[in-house]
Amino acid sequence: MSTSPPYLDAVIQGDCLEVMQGLPAACADLVFADPPYFMQTEGFLFRSDGSRFSGVDDAWDKFGGFAEYDAFTRAWLGGCRRLMKEDATLWVIGSFQNIYRLGSILQDMGFWILNDIIWSKPNAVPNFGGTRFQNAHETLLWCARSRDARYIFNYKTMKRLNGGRQARSVWDITLCKGGERLKDGQGAKLHPAQKPEKLLYNVILASTRPEGVVLDPFFGTGTTGAVARLTGRHFIGIERDAAYAEAARQRVAAVQTVHSDIHDQALETRLPRVPMRALVRDGYLENGESLYDRSGRAACTVTERGLVCDGGAPVSIHRMAAMILGRSNANGWDLFRVRRDGALVPLDLLRRRWREDHGGGRG
Ligand SMILES: C[S@@+](CC[C@H](N)C(=O)[O-])C[C@H]1O[C@@H](n2cnc3c(N)ncnc32)[C@H](O)[C@@H]1O
Repeated sequence: MSTSPPYLDAVIQGDCLEVMQGLPAACADLVFADPPYFMQTEGFLFRSDGSRFSGVDDAWDKFGGFAEYDAFTRAWLGGCRRLMKEDATLWVIGSFQNIYRLGSILQDMGFWILNDIIWSKPNAVPNFGGTRFQNAHETLLWCARSRDARYIFNYKTMKRLNGGRQARSVWDITLCKGGERLKDGQGAKLHPAQKPEKLLYNVILASTRPEGVVLDPFFGTGTTGAVARLTGRHFIGIERDAAYAEAARQRVAAVQTVHSDIHDQALETRLPRVPMRALVRDGYLENGESLYDRSGRAACTVTERGLVCDGGAPVSIHRMAAMILGRSNANGWDLFRVRRDGALVPLDLLRRRWREDHGGGRG
């Protein structure tokens, strides 16, 4: 019986420079790094109502100057590079304070920048002093190990996540808040730099396969681990602070893996087409059964020939989905739900069941 290595799906507490030395070469399919930004924040920031804003002002973000920060950056990037498989990619996130230094060092080390992604924050923190523009974005650099390296990019998956249009390099994602934000005993933010799960969702689904291993050397609250687990990937998390490491362990342990075509990379592997009429013919759907949209509204009914009808002429599920969403095209497998045992479940689940029952073959 094969057992997983002890570092897999574990939060390792320690300095990433030391911990990485103890890991085997080429163990990671992806690196996501959210390092200290060296923000050089001084004094306090106040909101217009006089309350104090808690940004990143922690000891872990302090360095003696650019030379020290650059040496640290080279050291951890070198550690990551050794752990990356040949076709692995590395994502690093930063802001105007550090991203240019990171980009230059990455290129000097032989990494090949594939994209710079703008994380645009619709709910960014204002510039309280009114002395500059509001800083409303951060930048992610996505890199292959070298110019000639092969790498994974799940083009169709990202296109599907972008509503059927080619995914772009600007991502609108709100800051992490509400139930997603980890709190301390007093109800304040546990960590000043917790990233939104949607950001990691895009990163992981764009550049890994199911069961792939994601290394995060600056694990913080474990956002990377939570999303890796949700999507059926493995992770290696390294975090120096004991309290953050423990919070991350608890957070990740509470996550259940969810299987779907998006998570399981079905869009990339070209599964055989399943016609709707096969689901009706083989009893997975009833003639006349209602299909529901995402809000739970009964939107149309299924016909014997596997079309759907809302009172007008029967059309395909995709045409009906496009009409409901007011688009020129849409994916009905994604939009519609069916009622099973009192709950609404995705129509896509029936398609997956049909494929499993039919050995993945054609209908
Ligand atoms: C920007 S935060 C990461 C936040 C994380 N992405 C999240 O969503 O919670 C950087 C983290 O790196 C940790 N850290 C800083 N230097 C480190 C080092 N040398 N080794 C390991 N962790 C380190 C800090 O304690 C901090 O939690």
